Amino acid sequence: TILVLDFGSQYTHLITRRLRELNVYSEMLPCTQKLADLSWKPKGIILSGGPYSVYSDDAPHVDPAVFDAGVPILGICYGLQELAWHFGKNVLAGEKREYGHADLKIARHGDGEAGGLVDKLFSGVEEDMNVWMSHGDKLSHLPEDWTTIATTSNAPFAGIAHTKKPYYGIQFHPEVTHTKNGTAVLKNFAVDICQARTDWTMGKFVDQEIERIRKLVGPKGQVIGAVSGGVDSTVAAKLMKEAIGDRFHAVLVDNGVLRLNEAKQVKETLTQGLGIKLTVIDASERFLGRLKGVTDDPEKKRKIIGNTFIEVFQETAKKIAEDAQGSDKAGEIEWLLQGTLYPDVIESISFKGPSATIKTHHNVGGLLEGMHLKLIEPLRELFKDEVRELGTNLGIPEDLVWRHPFPGPGIAIRILGEVTPEQVRIAREADFIFIEEIKAAGLYRKISQAFAALMPVKAVGVMGDKRVHDQVIALRAVETTDFMTADWYPFEFEFLKRVSRRIVNEVNGVCRVVYDITSKPPGTIEME
Ligand code: XMP
Repeated sequence: TILVLDFGSQYTHLITRRLRELNVYSEMLPCTQKLADLSWKPKGIILSGGPYSVYSDDAPHVDPAVFDAGVPILGICYGLQELAWHFGKNVLAGEKREYGHADLKIARHGDGEAGGLVDKLFSGVEEDMNVWMSHGDKLSHLPEDWTTIATTSNAPFAGIAHTKKPYYGIQFHPEVTHTKNGTAVLKNFAVDICQARTDWTMGKFVDQEIERIRKLVGPKGQVIGAVSGGVDSTVAAKLMKEAIGDRFHAVLVDNGVLRLNEAKQVKETLTQGLGIKLTVIDASERFLGRLKGVTDDPEKKRKIIGNTFIEVFQETAKKIAEDAQGSDKAGEIEWLLQGTLYPDVIESISFKGPSATIKTHHNVGGLLEGMHLKLIEPLRELFKDEVRELGTNLGIPEDLVWRHPFPGPGIAIRILGEVTPEQVRIAREADFIFIEEIKAAGLYRKISQAFAALMPVKAVGVMGDKRVHDQVIALRAVETTDFMTADWYPFEFEFLKRVSRRIVNEVNGVCRVVYDITSKPPGTIEME
């Protein structure tokens, strides 16, 4: 195991992620972790980056036992400065801050006395490396027994190494994908220098996580969580089911703006397929009732749906807790499960300061308020592709594991203008046909997200010799890796023709179909 001590950089989780990709197990703990309190001995220690200056009075420092542990240490960014501070107190505020790309030159020392040791970190890596920097402070000079192993034009000590011990410091971030060959550097450290085992797998993650959940929740504790039929909430729910069985209570709120037949399908998959204890609450009327009359304010739709969801969920939670009281599994519900992923965690860190809200995606942020529940987030260290791998590992059907994301406010933000039962019917039927055709054409996995949206305008058409005046469906399909930027999918004309024909023929109330060819930016993925 590699111990990652976290000084609060927004990239720290990426270090554990990269190590996992190398099949090396790592654990991330706060920078103040006392080594004596650990029940295991790390094979190596990584000190992460962080937003502080090591020389300031309130700067965090590691347990000095780290330097007596007799294991290799790698300091990244703040971690490098922490090493330099420990060995010589020689860190200064830099005159120039350095953010973004930098050209790193590796300084090799050859086979000489210390060369064998200090060259190990960059072994096999090209001389010139394009790296990602993000720092303000720098070293004034090297501490005793340290040498330079890499430089940039702005940072003469971009890489340093101890000449007698396997201690290394790098100013750049090897864990971000912007740093080319960053993984090779981490591999040199973890596998070659620390000799960490490379036998970690997702199967092991499952076992560890189940153990962790059992310990956290205790032998009687009960957990409640909302499921949507999406991959994140389903994987989180299945993990809970494996860990604590029927002491996990899943709730599916049918808000009336789910996809066609979705509530029914999710219920079948979760209960029959995965054995999860699920309560389905049909609150369509309450949601649609409140959405009535909201015509041109997408944020208001989001708010109504978010708040109504919280209300319905809380009522349901109360009922479930009351029922559980009388059973032999007494003890009220103390925990709320959330399928938060790592990108959500980063987003909430980087948007801590004032920032313009383009859309309020986290519609249920207020769920915890007034519920006296503690949060349990088993996926918070994982990325989407890892969650999919985990889902497959837990026996969740392929179809669900590869499902496109679906927003909390559902098709309400895909029905431009007022959301009425009739508009919901039209949008649902058109969407169903579009997705069915995408699957039939074998394109579902290539496309990141696709849906049909309903335009609140009428156009003229001619059907069966009769003039009609009906609505317009806009198809949207995008490819993206991070959902922050996206490009529209280049369908073949034959495909679009087929979908258009089917929608106009099969969906009552539609006489035209258009394809949205706007990228993000300037568009967004959803229409509202
Ligand atoms: P946009 O439209 O902002 O969408 O380009 C990016 C991703 O976020 C999803 N999305 C939402 N998800 N609640 C959600 O849970 C929302 O209010 C919401 N709005 C957008 C969208 O589907 C896409 O995957």
